[in-house]
Amino acid sequence: MSTPQTGAGHGEQPAPIPGEFERNTPYWPTPDNRPVALDRGSLPLTRESDSQMSFGERAAFEGVLAQIRPRVAVEIGTAEGGSLRRIARYSTLVHSIDPEHGPVGDVPPNVQLHTGMSADILPALLAQLSEDPEGLDLALVDGDHSYEGVSSDLKMLLSSPSTRQCAILVHDTTNAEVRAGVESVSLEQYPGVVYYELDFVPGYVYATGAATNSAWGGLALILTDESRGAAYASSPRQSRYREPFAALQRLRWSHAEDDGSS
Ligand SMILES: C[S@@+](CC[C@H](N)C(=O)[O-])C[C@H]1O[C@@H](n2cnc3c(N)ncnc32)[C@H](O)[C@@H]1O
Repeated sequence: MSTPQTGAGHGEQPAPIPGEFERNTPYWPTPDNRPVALDRGSLPLTRESDSQMSFGERAAFEGVLAQIRPRVAVEIGTAEGGSLRRIARYSTLVHSIDPEHGPVGDVPPNVQLHTGMSADILPALLAQLSEDPEGLDLALVDGDHSYEGVSSDLKMLLSSPSTRQCAILVHDTTNAEVRAGVESVSLEQYPGVVYYELDFVPGYVYATGAATNSAWGGLALILTDESRGAAYASSPRQSRYREPFAALQRLRWSHAEDDGSS
């Protein structure tokens, strides 16, 4: 769960266009936006209280990090540092961006915090990383969850030479506004995008808490490289499975209607 930053860095949001996508209502993250941490059991990722990801998202993200072992990683949206500490464990250097670094806790020595909005920080940071022949290995997009914010973050990343061979993960792709922001980018049009799957890890509909009956979570995976392989030449989008996004949206609406909160 995330902070819909109403217009953060993008001016006034226009009114939602009916049938296009649902805008998020302003929401400030509360501790009930993540599973309650366990105090026993043998799986460390279930004991974190600073991560805003579900247990499954944490496990999948850790798997990606363990395979890539980034030399350089960028995180957009530090919050309490939950995902940051995970990235830092597997990376040589991490740049983490957030307008507010108050709640971040212990910062590992291989982390550089950039305080500000991604729209202000990313251009210079990506230009600097583009000069490095090895570029950027991994990015997590989990900052401004408005349509405009997600779209802008992705466009900046994908149009930078630093992401020529990169894994980009986007959190909260089960949320309708975030999803619309990702779809607006037309990932197919970037020749460097060799694969993408918007429900790499499907999200969820909250059953309790401040976000009850809202759809959040989910991780998208976008891979870039020099050129597409034969299997994904015509479209880099995973098309073997029906995407669960639509079903989760129906679930969200049916519970909201039942509870009279739609
Ligand atoms: C969902 S939280 C990030 C959670 C964190 N990645 C984790 O999983 O532990 C979103 C964060 O993005 C930050 N944020 C909001 N707008 C932003 C922007 N324009 N640029 C960078 N960060 C932003 C918020 O301050 C908030 O801390």
